[in-house]
Amino acid sequence: MKNLFLIISLLLSPSMAHAWPWSMDMANQVSIKPQESVDPANPGMRPFPSRSVPVAGTTVRVKDQEAARNMVNPVPADSKSVAIGGRLYGIYCTPCHGESGTGDGLVGAKLIMKPWNLTSSNEMHSWNPKEYPDGHIFGYMTLGGAVMPSYANDLSPTERWHVVNYVRKVLQNGQAAALAK
Ligand code: HEC
Repeated sequence: MKNLFLIISLLLSPSMAHAWPWSMDMANQVSIKPQESVDPANPGMRPFPSRSVPVAGTTVRVKDQEAARNMVNPVPADSKSVAIGGRLYGIYCTPCHGESGTGDGLVGAKLIMKPWNLTSSNEMHSWNPKEYPDGHIFGYMTLGGAVMPSYANDLSPTERWHVVNYVRKVLQNGQAAALAK
């Protein structure tokens, strides 16, 4: 139902619909992209240079949110991981979910659908975020939601697990407010 509402709203506001997905706004420019052909006779992507080798282990494919929920967090939630996760959360998540994780970010305030509270249940959802598995948070970052963009291109899988650890250890323990001071 929420998704339907969103789609209708987007259709009714052409400029917003045009900019979708918002996370790509800055990437869609006239400049030449990596590997893009500059030869009008041969458009499309250039082949990789002959001696290039693929880098192993960087892509983690996640089928859907259901599959993500079953994933096991491979990164121990030690202080180092939590610190990295906190830094990344500050960059990528605070605009919407806020420093506290309750969804009070400045950008989130302008959204049609408010960012969900990552620390406790609220009027947006009745479930307790402390109860969903680590994979659920990982899946949301990987796949995005109806309004929330995907962070699969911005955060490596390991970085996403660091953010999961931060959400768990700091935000869901109510320590963010103390740290922000
Ligand atoms: C542009 C605003 C925005 C940003 C930035 C954002 N989110 Fe979200 N997030 C949302 C919205 C809105 C929802 C509500 C669900 C939806 O969009 O489908 C949500 C939902 C979620 C959920 C699901 C919560 C639940 O109870 O099921 C998780 C987990 C989440 N976000 C984590 C993150 C993390 C971690 C980051 C940073 C990597 C992040 N979000 C960045 C807007 C955002």
